[in-house]
Amino acid sequence: MADPRHGRGPIEIYETPGKKAYCTCGWSASLPYCDGAHNRMETGLKSCKVEIAEAGPRWVCQCHRTGTPPWCDGSHERA
Ligand code: FES
Repeated sequence: MADPRHGRGPIEIYETPGKKAYCTCGWSASLPYCDGAHNRMETGLKSCKVEIAEAGPRWVCQCHRTGTPPWCDGSHERA
């Protein structure tokens, strides 16, 4: 069983509309998206699923301390 892997700052992406699954364990090879590594690494975590309505820039939390998952709220700067 692996512990979550925490990054520092967020990953900035230009997101498109549709259903998305963002990684919450940090082990995905396709960050910031889930690739199923949370199961392979037996983290006990699940992805954060979100329906994106409009295309635009997004900042996806990688420190996993945000209060607004999956989006960065600046918590990485207060750690
Ligand atoms: S690979 Fe990290 S939550 Fe799925």
